[in-house]
Amino acid sequence: MTNEKNPWTPDSWRTKRALQQPNYPDLDKLKAAEERLAKQPPLVFAGEARRLKKGLAKVASGEAFLLQGGDCAESFAEFSSNNLRDTFRILLQMAVVLTFGGAVPVVKVGRMAGQFAKPRSSDTETRGGVTLPSYRGDIINGFGFTSDARTPDPERMLQVYHQSTSTLNLIRAFAQGGYADLHKVHCWNLDFVAGDLQAKRYRDLSDRIGESLAFMKACGIDGESTQFIRETEFFTSHEALLLPYEQALTRVDSTTGNWYDVSAHLLWVGDRTRDPNDAHVEFLSGVKNPLALKCGPTMPADDLLRLLDKLDPDNEAGRITLIARMGADKIEASLPPLLRQIQKSGRTVVWCCDPMHGNTENTENNFKTRDFNRIMKEVEGFFKTCEGEGAWPGGVHLEMTGRNVTECTGGASNVTPLELSVCYETHCDPRLNASQALELAFLMAERLKTARTG
Ligand code: PEP
Ligand code: CO
Repeated sequence: MTNEKNPWTPDSWRTKRALQQPNYPDLDKLKAAEERLAKQPPLVFAGEARRLKKGLAKVASGEAFLLQGGDCAESFAEFSSNNLRDTFRILLQMAVVLTFGGAVPVVKVGRMAGQFAKPRSSDTETRGGVTLPSYRGDIINGFGFTSDARTPDPERMLQVYHQSTSTLNLIRAFAQGGYADLHKVHCWNLDFVAGDLQAKRYRDLSDRIGESLAFMKACGIDGESTQFIRETEFFTSHEALLLPYEQALTRVDSTTGNWYDVSAHLLWVGDRTRDPNDAHVEFLSGVKNPLALKCGPTMPADDLLRLLDKLDPDNEAGRITLIARMGADKIEASLPPLLRQIQKSGRTVVWCCDPMHGNTENTENNFKTRDFNRIMKEVEGFFKTCEGEGAWPGGVHLEMTGRNVTECTGGASNVTPLELSVCYETHCDPRLNASQALELAFLMAERLKTARTG
């Protein structure tokens, strides 16, 4: 937010406390990398960010639902067109299930093309008497436990930028080049395990969509004449954590004269960096993108209002999405005070549920995991609480992948704690696999129907 005494500039965050930043050993190298990054073309356009804001304004007024999902952390090692296609495809399938089953338009946002930096609970990690900097995501350092890998390297920001351009290029082609055509719902088959219940449910649903499309065609509405049948809109998002990267990609939009962070359409502030006096909130207060804010169980309702005064002084519809990540056992007690405070203040926000980050646990054999039943319990608690307070349960924020990983336990396909080692590939938090993600979408679609019809 600009004020006379301390005007906002893309680097005004540098005068504030910046948590969760790496200690780069070579500051000249950092400066050179920032300068090169600042000369690169934008990854997204301001007009697209404004379109997303409009879509989110519809979510805020209860006319649409937000589906946001992707990896906990993207990585250099897992970068491939097959992986991108699989994540894009499962998000499309979930959106179709929610749109058709829940009878509500879905705004689709990937944790993709920039979701690389991770907040950590400790600056260092010790193994066998050796202490090294913690892994903070591929944009900062390497995953391997060697001094070389763990030394923060600013060149990695350039590699992330280039990987993100390729990712976006493919996503745009998938979204607009025919792949997302609704006539193809049948073809978006994932490599489901034989006999997977979710695959069968999905096939049944796509048969019904096929019938509806045939009916619409008979009425003169088809892909030739109607863009929404042929194409889809898909947006990108990430946590705006590594501020030198975000600053270097912040530009003035020539149409409006406003600043936009062109590294993604939507940026969010994490639960650990959301102090209103700190650098992350300062930085995001000056860019016009839609923003999201993670709200954990320790967020006092007064702090939330102070944060919104800074991030959204004009109370603009679609500007703010509040992502509750309370934990399955806390949501019903921790969310109502926030909901009431917002309602009392007359603010317009999107309420979204992240049922992942409050439900992480460690198994006896030392895998970080999440249980499908607890994830679903938090989603159910979210719907129930919103309904109880007269708010629209506007969306869900998930860590998930289109592949058959075994990182979260439970679900109809019943991954057991002992099976976690079969295909555990995440660089950070455990993700829902394709079958679990689709199962969640079916359950939410049922729930959305009752939320809409009472
Ligand atoms: C995340 O979304 O990956 C994350 C770190 O979340 P939170 O800030 O809610 O802990
Ligand atoms: Co995570």
